[in-house]
Amino acid sequence: MSSATLLPAGIPATHPAVATVAVRAPLEIAFPPTEAPGPGEVLVHVLWTASSPLDLHQADGGLLVKHPFAMGTSFAGRVAVLGPDSSQRLKVGDEVFGFTFRSPREKGFQTYITTDQYMTSRLPKNLTLQEAVAVPTNLVTAFHTITADLELPLPWPVPSSSWQPELSQTPILVWGAASSVGLYTLQVLRHWGYRSVIAVASSKHHEMLKGVEYGAAACFDYSHPQVASQIIEHVTTTKTSDNGCLIPFMIDCIGSREGSLRPLTKLAEKGTKVAVMLPVINIHASHDREPEYEMDVSRVLMGEWKEGVQLRGTRTHFYLRNEFFKDHLQPEIVPALLEQGVIKPNKARVVEGKTLLERAQNALDLLRIGAPSGEKLVWRVAEDDDERI
Ligand SMILES: NC(=O)c1ccc[n+]([C@@H]2O[C@H](COP(=O)([O-])OP(=O)(O)OC[C@H]3O[C@@H](n4cnc5c(N)ncnc54)[C@H](OP(=O)(O)O)[C@@H]3O)[C@@H](O)[C@H]2O)c1
Repeated sequence: MSSATLLPAGIPATHPAVATVAVRAPLEIAFPPTEAPGPGEVLVHVLWTASSPLDLHQADGGLLVKHPFAMGTSFAGRVAVLGPDSSQRLKVGDEVFGFTFRSPREKGFQTYITTDQYMTSRLPKNLTLQEAVAVPTNLVTAFHTITADLELPLPWPVPSSSWQPELSQTPILVWGAASSVGLYTLQVLRHWGYRSVIAVASSKHHEMLKGVEYGAAACFDYSHPQVASQIIEHVTTTKTSDNGCLIPFMIDCIGSREGSLRPLTKLAEKGTKVAVMLPVINIHASHDREPEYEMDVSRVLMGEWKEGVQLRGTRTHFYLRNEFFKDHLQPEIVPALLEQGVIKPNKARVVEGKTLLERAQNALDLLRIGAPSGEKLVWRVAEDDDERI
């Protein structure tokens, strides 16, 4: 990168980064070079990150991983250096956060990342870095899934306060509504005027999900043995759909073969679009069992789906194919929705540990036992910056 800026004094030539080195092995610390930003890029000093189930899929299942593999898909920190030809949006010292996943140098579990400026959001005044880091990965997932997989419109800016989508009263089922993906999906659908959202989550979350922030029209408990027939009865009696199937749109925020896909085979009909968070989890990771995943949703429960069901495997890592989202989603839409209070960050659970490695490992252990429920695991990355933490 010939036109890259030189690293200013005080920025280390290498820095610690958390990596997985073998399937189910303890995490390790590597020391990659700190890369000066090229044109349109930024170097960020990372203060906070968030864990997500993908970390477990990578560490225990080796999913799409070549070892050693740098980890982390979100960061929050402070702009250390701007590359040449920078936009006017950012300046050195700004607090920023984002969802990054494409290469080792932009992975969130390290104290410095180098990434494109369009992968960053400026921290809104009403949030701390610790709160904001719980947002970008799955808010971007919600936008990508609704627009790319369900093909429902989310125009930006919302045309007017009275604007309603054409399918505002059409049922949309969100299975796993209390997951991180589910909570952002509900908030986005509510803001854009989708009024017939059916949420599936454990009962303890139902009051919250029906409240003004999440706006679910009805809630069902996935642990109830009759959950599928309860949902069918509900949509049959409310009968808001007019395009041939009872529930034309479904988002499976969990992607568990037995826990979510199997019940959805009973609900999806010809014409239903079902977006499934990949990977499909055939066997969940645990201390004594290696997980099993499937990246091709059409190979799961073959022969059990009704003819004409449109299965879509969601892969948010492709969201940048949408040029408008590339330029506007993280730089503009995410911070605006947070600043306006339209989107509320997931409740954060701070994972403690004496070192970067210990915090990363502790967070992974919590994912392995399925501990997060309606919350996001967040933890400190660099410790040499004690302002506004
Ligand atoms: N491919 C992609 O683009 C993409 C993007 C983002 C996430 N994902 C994947 O999507 C999955 C969810 O991610 P996340 O960060 O949202 O997870 P998460 O917040 O850690 O998920 C925890 C939640 O899952 C819920 N849950 C567990 N089993 C369930 C079931 N059988 N039915 C309904 N809800 C269930 C629990 O709900 P209760 O509290 O109600 O029990 C819990 O709150 C992960 O596998 C992740 O890797 C994929």
